[in-house]
Order: sequence, then C-alpha cells, then structure tokens
Amino acid sequence: MMIKKKTKTTFCCQECGYFAPKWLGRCPECGGWDCFAEERTAPLTGPGAISGNGLFSAQPVPIDSIVLDEDSRTSTGINEFDRVLGGGVIQGSLVLIGGDPGIGKSTLILQVIHGLSSINKKILYVSGEESIRQIKMRSQRLNASSPGMLVVSEIDVDAILNMVESVGPDALVIDSIQTMFSQDISSAPGSVSQVRESTMKLMLMAKRSGIPTFLIGHVTKDGAIAGPRVMEHMVDTVLYFEGDQNHEFRILRAVKNRFGSTNEIGVFEMKENGLAEVPNPSAVFLAERAANSPGSVVTSCIEGTRPILVEIQALISSAGFGTPRRTVLGLDYNRVSLLMAVMEKKLGLNLAGHDIFMNVTGGVKVTEPAVDLGIVAAVASSFLDKPIPEGMIAIGEVGLSGEVRGVSHLEARVAEVRKMGFTKCIVPKTSLKQLINKSDIELVGITRLAEVMENLF
Ligand code: TYD
Ligand code: MG
Repeated sequence: MMIKKKTKTTFCCQECGYFAPKWLGRCPECGGWDCFAEERTAPLTGPGAISGNGLFSAQPVPIDSIVLDEDSRTSTGINEFDRVLGGGVIQGSLVLIGGDPGIGKSTLILQVIHGLSSINKKILYVSGEESIRQIKMRSQRLNASSPGMLVVSEIDVDAILNMVESVGPDALVIDSIQTMFSQDISSAPGSVSQVRESTMKLMLMAKRSGIPTFLIGHVTKDGAIAGPRVMEHMVDTVLYFEGDQNHEFRILRAVKNRFGSTNEIGVFEMKENGLAEVPNPSAVFLAERAANSPGSVVTSCIEGTRPILVEIQALISSAGFGTPRRTVLGLDYNRVSLLMAVMEKKLGLNLAGHDIFMNVTGGVKVTEPAVDLGIVAAVASSFLDKPIPEGMIAIGEVGLSGEVRGVSHLEARVAEVRKMGFTKCIVPKTSLKQLINKSDIELVGITRLAEVMENLF
C-alpha cells in the first residue's frame, strides 16, 4: 500500500522567516508577537530547477584567468543614483530598493529606467501594483517615456522569467517584490516564503543572464524591508529611500553594496514633475537656518565619501515636574545622553532638571561621532541662551573624560565648510596634522571640552 505523502504545513514568522511546526504566539528568533502565518510547502521544485542552469554546474577557474570588461558599469544619467550604486549599474547585479509606501520608489525607478533607455537600452518594467495605464500616466507626468521602456502588469514570477527570456531586456525592474508570487508555493503573495522564493528565482536569472535587476521592496513599521532578512543577504545591493512625507527631501542610502562603498547617499527633491537631483545638499539643508538663534549649530558629517553640512538644533527648557524629557530626532539617543552626562560633569552645566529636545533639520539622520561637538555646542548655546558666533562651525568627537578626539576626512570637511562660506572652524587639535592644504578659513585646534566653551561664548 502506498502511503500518500502529506502536504507539509509549517508556520513561518512573517518578520524574520523563522519556521516552526506549529503556531506560536511569540517568535523565538526575533521576539515578535503574533507574527506567525500558516504556509504550505509543496515538494521542493525551486532547487530542483536550479541545478543544471549553468550557475551551479560551473567549473572552478584560476582567478587570474578571469577577464573583466573595462566599462562594466552603465551610467543611468542620474548622478545621485549612480553614486549610491558605486558608479553605475553593474551587469548581473541584483539591487533592492526599500522604502516606506509613497516615498517615491516607483517614481525614482521610472526616472532611472528612462535614463537607461535614452542610451538605447531596453528595459522591462514589471509592476504588480499598478496597471499599465497608471504607469503611463506617471511616466507622462515625469516626462519619462521612451520606446525602450517596456511595461507589463504581472505578478507570476515564472511568467516574468519567460517574458525576460523572450524579450531579452538590458535591465529588469520588479515593482514590488512583495506582490510577486511563485506557483511552487501555495502561500499568499507577500508572505515570507513567497518573497524568498521569488527573490531566489530572480537572483538566479540575474546571475545567469547578466541582466541587472532592480527589486522594489516595502518597509515594515519598524523600518526593515518586509519579508525575510535572508532577502537582504541574497541581493548584491540594498538601497533605502528615506525621507519625511512632509518634507520634499529624499535620501537614497546604500546600506549594503557588494560593488561600492556603503553609506553613500544621494539626495533628491520631490517636485511636481518627479524627483530632482540635489547636487549640493549642504546648501539645501542650511537654506532656512535663522541667523543668531541660540541652540542652532552647523556641523559636518561624512556620508560615504561626501562631506555634508547639517544644522543641529537644541531646545533646553526647565522641566515642570517629574522626570525630564529627552526627545532626540535624527541623532543617536544614547549618544546624546552620554554627551549630556559629560557636559554636566566636565562643564558643570546643570542639565538634569531640564527637558532636552534635539533635532537635525531637513529630516536627516546622523550617526557619526564627529558631530558630538556640534551637539555639545547646540545644547550649551540653548542652555546659556547665547547664539553661536556667525560663520562658526564645530567638528569633533567627544570622549567620556571631556577630551576632544580626532575625526576622519578633515581635509574634505574643511573644504566643504569653506565652500559654504563659513569663516571659523573649531576642530580637534590632533586632526590638524592631517591638513595638507592650508585653507583661508580660521581653524581653531582644541583638545578639551572646556576650550570649546571659551571659543564659542
Ligand atoms: P511613488 O513613487 O508612487 O511612491 P512608492 O512607489 O514609493 O510608493 O510616489 C508617490 C508620491 O510621490 C505621491 O505621494 C505623490 C508624489 N509625487 C510627486 O510629488 N511628484 C511626482 O511627479 C510624482 C510622480 C509623485
Ligand atoms: Mg510604488
């Protein structure tokens, strides 16, 4: 008697991809609550189909016998996008672009493929979210439609792969990966297994055929790309498109890049007719800065290879009752708490009884320690209610014993400071040695926090 093979039912965490044989209220892997969904797995067809496709049956070759094409990177014509990718699109790369709904991912990618198609590339744009009429309407608004852009509304990955084979595009766009589904798996589109399976199939296609593939991904409430973490491991490049819905600025950030530097950013502005590049972000971030206002300090951060000036604001007010509030936007909360403690101890400022609000303007996020001195200066300025002198900037890392530590790339930072018309710059003394070119702005080298105060007020 034949025993009929049961369809296997498993439960899969929709946050992290953890598999369990039965339903669980709380995921033991990521700690999420109520995130298990039932998924039926059919007998493995994925890996079965994988073998024999030329990728996994390849023979090893000596590394020095591999010849690389000179210009394996293709420029999209959008400099900010190229920069984040590390200089252009690479053959066979799989790029994931994540971001909140409505942030402008579809808009960005449509402009990118328009750029590609204007250098005679054929691009296949697959949308699982919009009809081809909607895509047309958008492309008209963006003034981005050319004959090389082929659009289709489809969600079946296998059908898409066949389409790629028959059309033979130079690049493929999937908008979005969460809408894709593979018939090998019975769970709903958007579930972890479907997303993983679809990504796997598209990855194999991209590697085998050399067609660069862009996947658009949604982001969950807490900022991770919806679907399993493994998806981020499968792709070559992960870009996040971030920004505030209420601000027109959008920042494209590389968080993983096998072909370039991470933390490289591209800055865009959402306009009536699409995204415009912002080649000089410092000017934009500082545009609305009020002169002579206490609590506002300009500092420099390095994003990738690019120095950018940002405005840090602090507002210190005496706490009414109970525990004072600490609200920090755009900066690391723990870092700010640490600096407050150093300021209390080393500068004798009584911050304990005060509410502290901090913000980086323009919706930017900075995590670099070199902005420490900017934070300290902003807090001190608001606490003492004295503005920072006009044209002055503060750069440096602050240590726990109140020492000011050196920062990287001082040369580039100073050049940007000068370009933006600042005249005086407080920098760590140890970093001054790095400077080769003498600049005409005044550089004040300091070693201790107390000296900062003498120079500022
Ligand atoms: P969209 O690209 O659809 O976002 P996503 O694909 O990330 O969900 O962008 C939608 C938003 O962008 C929408 O709120 C309107 C705005 N927008 C403009 O301001 N100007 C434009 O030219 C376009 C196309 C969109
Ligand atoms: Mg979209």
